[in-house]
Amino acid sequence: MEKVNGIEIMTSVKWKCPSNIAIVKYWGKKANQIPCNSSLSLTLAHACTETEVSLSAKSSDGVIELDYFFEGSKNEMFGARVEKYLAANIESFPFLRENALTIQSSNNFPHSAGIASSASAFGAIALALLDLRYQDAERPSQEIFLREASHIARLASGSACRSIFPDYALWGENARVPNSSNLHAIPVTEIHEEFEGMNDTILVIEDEPKKVSSSAGHSLMQEHPYAFERFRQANDRVRYLVDILKNGDISAFIEICESEALTLHAMMMTSKNYYLLMKAHTIDVIEKIFDFRSETKIPVAFTLDAGPNVHLLYPKKYRESVQEFVQMELAEMCKGVIHDHAGRGPMKMNN
Ligand code: PMV
Repeated sequence: MEKVNGIEIMTSVKWKCPSNIAIVKYWGKKANQIPCNSSLSLTLAHACTETEVSLSAKSSDGVIELDYFFEGSKNEMFGARVEKYLAANIESFPFLRENALTIQSSNNFPHSAGIASSASAFGAIALALLDLRYQDAERPSQEIFLREASHIARLASGSACRSIFPDYALWGENARVPNSSNLHAIPVTEIHEEFEGMNDTILVIEDEPKKVSSSAGHSLMQEHPYAFERFRQANDRVRYLVDILKNGDISAFIEICESEALTLHAMMMTSKNYYLLMKAHTIDVIEKIFDFRSETKIPVAFTLDAGPNVHLLYPKKYRESVQEFVQMELAEMCKGVIHDHAGRGPMKMNN
């Protein structure tokens, strides 16, 4: 038997899962990670988490016995979050009653770079756990396997459920989108060539961990004065965006993408406990993007996550001109620049 950190391993699997950036944002949730509105995202290619999950004999009678390592070191804080999630979902993973678990995880992108690390981290954990579950049971079709992985990932981190699918993914029930569900994401597969291989250049404005967590932000939507209208708007936009991705209307894409970023931050600024995550350079960069677009007519859109960093989304044929603009005009306002693009989704790795 192989040994990892001195523990005899019975079996292990390794998965690589990408992060994603939402174009229409999920902001506000109900119990059991049910979103208040549907959302639609782009899955990235390079920004990934690689996770190896190994099973060994249990040495205590605790419900979950877990050792969680991040980039080679024990990470008690994230480990406690994973443990809580596993204990709450033990029915889905009965083998955790008899086995201890070692999780070794690493990201190929820097911390606090404006890339959702919980999406890729929990996506990879969900895929690995499901893979282990099917070592002793008949494996379903790939379509069902991915849907189940998306469901399991959602229970840990809502946006993680979208990372299971390549290119574009939609999560949340939307009356106008057949097969959409609150329980798992679905792939959006009818994509005009304008939006194939979409680029995402991430401008790292601040690399400190953010002061208000996404969970706190979601809960502030519960009594938000604009919540009802916001959820309605997001559902409408998801429906439009599905059509836009089909018909290639890049101007309509830019309008939804940028308004979504500003609306997300407007929700934070107008919550009862209001707060601001944008920094001065976030605004400076956005203004430069407006100027660049109006001077060159190059269709580049910005979006923001729940943080100060800016994502630039643009079709692949404008790669050179946008990256030159970033280098010449924006890089000096940033702590880092990461060029990524639409990716093919998760992958099982050889151990
Ligand atoms: O999945 P969570 O709970 O980390 O929330 C993600 C929220 C946003 O990133 C701001 C939007 C989204 O849809 O990903």
